[in-house]
Amino acid sequence: MTNILIIDSAATGEASVSRKLTAAFADQVGRHDQEARIVHRDVGRQTIPHLTEDTVAAIRGTPETPQAQAARALSDELISELQAADLIVIGAPMYNFGMASTLKTWFDHVLRAGVTFRYTAAGPEGLVTGKRAIVVESRAGFYSAGPGAAMDHQEPHIRTLLGFMGITDVTFVRAEKLASGAEAASAAMAGAIEQLDGLARSEVALAA
Ligand SMILES: Cc1cc2nc3c(=O)[nH]c(=O)nc-3n(C[C@H](O)[C@H](O)[C@H](O)COP(=O)(O)O)c2cc1C
Repeated sequence: MTNILIIDSAATGEASVSRKLTAAFADQVGRHDQEARIVHRDVGRQTIPHLTEDTVAAIRGTPETPQAQAARALSDELISELQAADLIVIGAPMYNFGMASTLKTWFDHVLRAGVTFRYTAAGPEGLVTGKRAIVVESRAGFYSAGPGAAMDHQEPHIRTLLGFMGITDVTFVRAEKLASGAEAASAAMAGAIEQLDGLARSEVALAA
């Protein structure tokens, strides 16, 4: 049985492209593997608070105030979901050349020294190992090559954060040029769905 954690982060509700794509992936897995267990965390709709002076201690130190204790409890819950998953699927819209701030707050709550990574004499070491990740990126523009590539502060950041926790088996699925006309947008969607179908079949084969 595969344990899948799907994290959506779009601020665009039902219109969200990244949410449609993560849902398509879940449907595809569900069609072929009724035993797959899917946990869905939508931080775009149920947002996670930003770290503040009151709550940063929950992640970086000892929680003392009620606010810090609540933040620690949320961090514990999010880390448990991450640790329980074999596969993490992240719906990652590009907003202002980076990831959604809602997704950044998820990372802020799960990157905890001594729990999801640790510092050693040889440098930092990720502690969330043996997992795979699929990151579905939706973007109006084109960043895979050419002049846009230098403005992609989304994919390198997400790759670094996952890698810092030890998640290095990461596949990025890009739906790009979504604002370059209907034809380009539907080609982007078709390409992403085809790639996700292939990834879903591989997951089902791995679980068999
Ligand atoms: C606030 C905001 C900022 C955006 N910034 C960018 C951007 O910097 N580059 C880009 O290519 N598209 C940008 N877009 C377009 C989104 O990437 C595109 O609409 C994509 O479908 C977002 O994913 P979603 O549909 O799941 O929300 C932006 C959209 C919004 C709402």
